[in-house]
Amino acid sequence: MNTPKTPVEKPIAIDANTWVLVLTGAGVSAESGIPTFRGSNGLWENYPVEYVASPEGFMRDPALVWRFYSERRAFAKTCSPNPGHYALKDLEERLGDRFLLVTQNVDGLHRKAGSKRIVELHGNLFTTRCSQCDRIPFEDEDEYMGGTLPACALCAKTGKKSLLRPHIVWFGEMLAPENLSRIQAFMAQAAGNRFVFVAAGTSGVVYPAAGLVISARKLGGETFLVNAEPAENTEVFEHFIQGPSGQILPRLFS
Ligand code: OAD
Repeated sequence: MNTPKTPVEKPIAIDANTWVLVLTGAGVSAESGIPTFRGSNGLWENYPVEYVASPEGFMRDPALVWRFYSERRAFAKTCSPNPGHYALKDLEERLGDRFLLVTQNVDGLHRKAGSKRIVELHGNLFTTRCSQCDRIPFEDEDEYMGGTLPACALCAKTGKKSLLRPHIVWFGEMLAPENLSRIQAFMAQAAGNRFVFVAAGTSGVVYPAAGLVISARKLGGETFLVNAEPAENTEVFEHFIQGPSGQILPRLFS
């Protein structure tokens, strides 16, 4: 199946019966200066994934993992949302509960832009949790570039020494079931209406996010990909609009 390239001038018509589910990936933050994961000079080219983004890596060298995420915290703090993020915030304001944003990004830029109906599928850079106990993840902007690593104060009360860790879904870890349920519930409601699915700035490599387009199609959704380059799963989409999301998303919805 060959996905036609859809001209960007053809926007998606929004009416009172339209439900929109948007999936974003690292490409949406590229125009804000945040590096993507794959491709030349992508994050995973410069850092071995298994060392900095896996439970085994954290057990082996928690200081290295904290330094990696602290550097990303420090940098993300200096970055601002771009017109792509704001276009999605504006769309949410128009659609209300008929809109849901699912992001694989952990940089917090969608929230900075004002998005509220958002599922952060892979966690959030500015949230920390305990590596051992079930305490609720909490907001944390601190950076741990060296020295003492942060420990869980709740565990300490019971005499246990547990390290805190970034609230990021690492390789080999499960996504939060409540996030997946929320997406499924949204799709089930959207399916009885005009349902539009848009994926933007994602390589379509990492599942289950990359499989959302298949679920959307099964439920009768019209599917759009907005990406700088063809993604791994481009052929599953009905429409492919090639280019920078910061330029395309603001022109996509009429
Ligand atoms: P990738 O780095 O895999 O892919 C980014 C995609 O964005 C590529 O297909 C680029 O062509 C495209 N792109 C780059 N700049 C763009 C722009 N300005 N406008 C539109 N598209 C652009 O990032 P993700 O697909 O988000 O997981 O990666 C998925 C997951 O893999 C991440 O969430 C992360 C990573 O391992 C975890 O850390 C758990």
